[in-house]
Amino acid sequence: MTRQLFVTTALPYANGKFHIGHIMEYIQADIWVRFQRMRGHQVHFVGADDAHGAPIMIAAEKAGKTPQQFVADIAAGRKEYLDGFHISFDNWHSTDGVENHELAQDIYRGLRDNGLIEVRAIEQFFDPDKGMFLPDRFIKGECPKCGAKDQYGDSCESCGAVYAPTELKNPYSALSGATPVLKTSDHYFFRLSDPRCVEFLQNWTTEPGKLQPEVLNKIKEWFTKDEEGQGGLGDWDISRDAPYFGIEIPDAPGKFFYVWLDAPIGYLASLKNWFDKGGPAAKYGDTRSFAEFMASPDIEQYHFIGKDITYFHTLFWPATLHFSGRRTPTNVFVHGFMTVNNGEKMSKSRGTGLDPLKYLSLGMNPEWLRYYIAAKLNSHVEDVDFNRDDFTARVNADLIGKYVNIASRAAGFIAKRFGGRLSADVGVEGRVLLDTLRAHRDTVTGLYEAREFGKVLREIMALADRVNEYVDQNKPWEIAKQAGQDAVLQDVCTVCIEAFRLLTIYLKPVLPALAAQVEAFLQVEPLDFHATERALGAHVIGSYQHLMQRVDPKLLEELFAAPEPEKLIPGGEELAPEIKIDDFTKVDLRIAKIVKAETVDGSTKLLRLTLDVGEGRTRNVFSGIAGAYKPEDLTGKLTVMVANLAPRKMKFGVSEGMVLAASHADEKANPGVFVLEPFPGAQPGMRVR
Ligand code: MSP
Ligand code: ZN
Repeated sequence: MTRQLFVTTALPYANGKFHIGHIMEYIQADIWVRFQRMRGHQVHFVGADDAHGAPIMIAAEKAGKTPQQFVADIAAGRKEYLDGFHISFDNWHSTDGVENHELAQDIYRGLRDNGLIEVRAIEQFFDPDKGMFLPDRFIKGECPKCGAKDQYGDSCESCGAVYAPTELKNPYSALSGATPVLKTSDHYFFRLSDPRCVEFLQNWTTEPGKLQPEVLNKIKEWFTKDEEGQGGLGDWDISRDAPYFGIEIPDAPGKFFYVWLDAPIGYLASLKNWFDKGGPAAKYGDTRSFAEFMASPDIEQYHFIGKDITYFHTLFWPATLHFSGRRTPTNVFVHGFMTVNNGEKMSKSRGTGLDPLKYLSLGMNPEWLRYYIAAKLNSHVEDVDFNRDDFTARVNADLIGKYVNIASRAAGFIAKRFGGRLSADVGVEGRVLLDTLRAHRDTVTGLYEAREFGKVLREIMALADRVNEYVDQNKPWEIAKQAGQDAVLQDVCTVCIEAFRLLTIYLKPVLPALAAQVEAFLQVEPLDFHATERALGAHVIGSYQHLMQRVDPKLLEELFAAPEPEKLIPGGEELAPEIKIDDFTKVDLRIAKIVKAETVDGSTKLLRLTLDVGEGRTRNVFSGIAGAYKPEDLTGKLTVMVANLAPRKMKFGVSEGMVLAASHADEKANPGVFVLEPFPGAQPGMRVR
């Protein structure tokens, strides 16, 4: 029976590049998907960028981009990684696509019509300068327990205490530095504590054979109330107040869905986008609509995710789907975390660890990594460590030493002595060996299906060991020297090539590009699992080309070499190219008096300055210094301006010049903007030279 599978990986936040943890997840899912396709099943494997939320909105503002542009720029970088590691998504989309807006609003209406949405007023910290509610991680202050300064709103990095942001001493907004004030606002809650939800989730999560046992144990903890009746399934706050980059809640002006409400709906949005584009029709002749596909009882839906987002996927997500009248996932496959070189924690933000793009740019083979990660993966939620010596050993000794070498040991004789032709039939010993290999097919496919990739590779390498024993016993290089032994030599080499073909079938989900090279070398159709049933017979194969390089440990040295120590450059910025004095005098700098400074309605960045440069009139200049100065700090002061800059039309009016200010190249790490002020005595209109 042809199965129809809808498979996803978690949708990465669109505020950073992929790191090795993402790639590990994609490799795991891709192996499983390729395996399913090789069995003849129809798979829709989709991903998307997770575009919404406060951190992305804030990062975009800092980068001087709209959130849409910011997210699009990140999305543009995805292909290089996905192609580079042979990740075979059918579609890649964004949670900010129209499909997601519509689906999220639809799903919300379903929950609301089911009586599961409740509005409640809650009190939260609000940044009066920025005019927005602050997420916990954007509130800082002194730890209420140990007094450590500059701690985040949820926990102290110094003493480990966990608390609410309202408990911080001397709290301040990490966005503006302002003291936050408590403000009340209506929030929308998904009433997960409703007995219907509790009962549904208790049944859903405990369906036999569904979740991994360790996942189920975690869920049981989440369900359990303590003696005081605390814990258990709480209601879920699914709204955020404007300004927020997200999806508007229907009939609730100024309210947006919290990013985690619309993010998993992005799975459906990407699939819908794939159907609307005609992907399944072109690939499988499936002309159903997205809605028809989702309504078919026999489709299967799987999500690959990391352990940190289990709660969202095994509780919130199935409940969201079920109570809006939709199908729930067939299963959620949870994996552990990737660590690098003995568990040193990978830092998401600092980008330490194994940089996937650097790996590729060094010319390291992506299939080494696929093989290595597969060798370490099982069906459990266990962390996976990348260890460089282990990596080198497994690739060189197993993948190349045991498998790739089989082909190189036999191919030369077939080409040189027999014009590329294999024997029609082989001797008993060879037939027994090949039958053994074929007999392992169901074990191999069973292990792939169960995501026991480490076990499957051990199984395949044990088979490769047998083939190598056969080669060592039969010694084709000695037979080749004996007169009258041509038929024996051809038989032994034929057994090797046929064994190599069978092993290639078994390894193909992990090593798709290598398998394609082998198909070209053997001059056969794309290999699938049925191809084990036929033998090559008196087939003519092509000439052998070297299939895979060994890992040179020097490459790993380079991969993990600390990046070139940054040259000490003033202010974090290289000097601009040299100029002549004429270049400088083109810029007319004048002393200007700040007659007036005002905030600009609708902009948190700009101040409107009224400047006097001794012209008998004043100039209007917009300056991006609202984060650094209050209007009253500036009024009456002298500064320096570029007076011959072409006027620029901006959203808020025309800007007639530019005020000079100093800042560090990396404003994130070294915040601060400092407006220039002349020594006493300077007069408005004087030229600066
Ligand atoms: N945007 C959310 C997911 C929304 S799904 C509807 C998110 N994004 S993420 O970019 O932080 O993580 C994406 C995936 O990468 C998650 O499955 C996460 O568990 C996984 N990993 C992040 N770091 C990881 C490792 N170090 N190792 C393995 N996977 C890890 O969470
Ligand atoms: Zn503390």
